[in-house]
Amino acid sequence: MSRHPVFRPRRLRRSEGIRALVRETTVTPGDLVLPLFAVPGEGVRRPVGSMAGVEQTSVDELLRDAEEALRLGIGGVLLFGIPARKDEAGSGGYDEHGIVQTAVRALKRALPELLVITDVCLCEYTSHGHCGVLRGGDVDNDATVPLLARVAVTHAAAGADVVAPSDMMDGRVGAIRAALDGAGFQDTALMSYAAKYASAFYGPFRDAAESVPAFGDRRTAQMDPGNVLEALREVRMDVEEGADMLMVKPALAYLDVIHRVKAETGYPVCGYHVSGEYAMIEAAADRGWIDRERAHREALTAIRRAGADLVVSYWSRQFARLAAAG
Ligand code: PBG
Repeated sequence: MSRHPVFRPRRLRRSEGIRALVRETTVTPGDLVLPLFAVPGEGVRRPVGSMAGVEQTSVDELLRDAEEALRLGIGGVLLFGIPARKDEAGSGGYDEHGIVQTAVRALKRALPELLVITDVCLCEYTSHGHCGVLRGGDVDNDATVPLLARVAVTHAAAGADVVAPSDMMDGRVGAIRAALDGAGFQDTALMSYAAKYASAFYGPFRDAAESVPAFGDRRTAQMDPGNVLEALREVRMDVEEGADMLMVKPALAYLDVIHRVKAETGYPVCGYHVSGEYAMIEAAADRGWIDRERAHREALTAIRRAGADLVVSYWSRQFARLAAAG
């Protein structure tokens, strides 16, 4: 039986004032994490063709972007590196003078309050573009894990606040935690990409990070899009191995996964609104098919509403600029 006309839900939708008063989910710059791509050199600012507004920058330029992010109240930055040289074993990833390590040191020196998260993976550093060392055409899990631990320790030594392994090797969270603790970095937090899917939505990122696999794909490591119970098993393992925060990636196509991970663990959850999800909005907006700003805001709100405490977004800077402009 309808309670109309006593109940009139539209009363709470009549003005922005009242809508704002009863809004359940909000997004603020502090909920967002801005990805940054560091390249060698000086004065380099190279736009990524497939991702409007995203650039590869040398460390000096990256400092300017990070300074703005801090000033605008963005929650933190997530650093990726593109090394000068790549090799079979991805050794640039665990070089203490590597590109990310250098960038982190510069950031922490110039902007000590900025929260710095680093991506821990080998795919940007290997000549074949896979996330670890190969054996017989596939990534060798157990040979890769100690290398990932080395990557994480060099990032922590450079001053990273949070290390974020994105490779999906089995057992890497425990190995990284043990290596960090063994090296005296007990206070470095670990955000695990606990549920990372083998997604078509990473396409533009692989341009940005120059990490397209030379052959094959990542389906032997990343999760099948049909699975959510498996995601919960992955998450439980990572929590047991010592993860402090959990990442679900992609975010917009996996809102149910975010919701269940949050509900079942209660841990801080981060949604990675990935490159392809971002690029779809940008491309449709370029054609005048959707309203750019509203679509981006709606996507970020949906990810937060599903249960993400924080969101990695390529739109963080634009969001924060608009928020600052009022
Ligand atoms: C791997 C990594 C990837 C992304 C973040 N970390 C690519 C992949 O797994 O192929 C994708 C992020 C995005 O698409 O925005 N180091």
